[in-house]
Amino acid sequence: MRLDGKVCLVTGGASGIGRATCELFAREGAVLAIADKNGEAAAQTADRCGALGAQAFSIEVDVGDAAGVRRMIDETVARYDRLDVLVNNAGYGIPGSVVETGEDDWNALMAVNVNGVFLACKHAIPLMAKRGGGVIVNVASVVASVGIRNRAAYCASKGAVAALTRAMALDHVDDGIRINAVAPGTIESPYFDAILSSSRDTEATRRGLRERQAMRRMGRPEEVALGIAYLASDESSFCTGTILTIDGGMTAQ
Ligand code: NAI
Repeated sequence: MRLDGKVCLVTGGASGIGRATCELFAREGAVLAIADKNGEAAAQTADRCGALGAQAFSIEVDVGDAAGVRRMIDETVARYDRLDVLVNNAGYGIPGSVVETGEDDWNALMAVNVNGVFLACKHAIPLMAKRGGGVIVNVASVVASVGIRNRAAYCASKGAVAALTRAMALDHVDDGIRINAVAPGTIESPYFDAILSSSRDTEATRRGLRERQAMRRMGRPEEVALGIAYLASDESSFCTGTILTIDGGMTAQ
């Protein structure tokens, strides 16, 4: 029980890496607030966590909306009286080079992938500091440190998440707050179902995504969740400002 009794808020908890994280946290004894713009699916995750024996509730929220993020933190504290662990996982990608990316699409993606992390941390950190500490885990990506084609806005957003993680870790080390990130490689989540279903040759696209990893396979959401749980728990007590790569050797090549 690595998270026994810890109040944990996970954004994007309705699907993929977020859902796997909630379920692992539930098995590790966490008390959960599960936030997602898809309220119905978030409620399903909460039910699954409940079936695993955890106390859990869901919050429907768009983390790109400042008032919504404030409400998300307030609802968590109103329900559980404190916040021990924040996992900023909600995010998405769009295809396109800089030239092809529309300004509105750029701004919308930054609002979720970057502002969402900034705002949640902005409201969570003072609460954690007041209670003597806490833990934040952000979900960045390997594209924070290596470029990939046709994902300019997404790469920029994840670079910002990694840089913000390091900056916040230094600013709040004396508050007893550890702030780290995971950098996943290619993970087989519903996010990729959309990419595959929109590609002309699904099998060739799937093969290409697999071949990017030295391990020649895509990762599973559960494999990322294990890294998030490590960073969220006291096992990582000497880690702050760390970006933990979980990528099947993609960036070792
Ligand atoms: P997913 O699409 O399966 O899950 C993302 C969840 O975030 C969904 O439940 C979605 O409704 C929610 N979400 C999206 N925008 C939101 C918003 N504005 N407000 C609240 N919730 C919102 O995707 P996946 O793969 O599980 O991604 C989770 C995180 O991991 C994302 O930040 C993604 O960028 C990151 N990541 C994913 C990788 C992959 O290969 N799947 C690789 C590296 C990073």
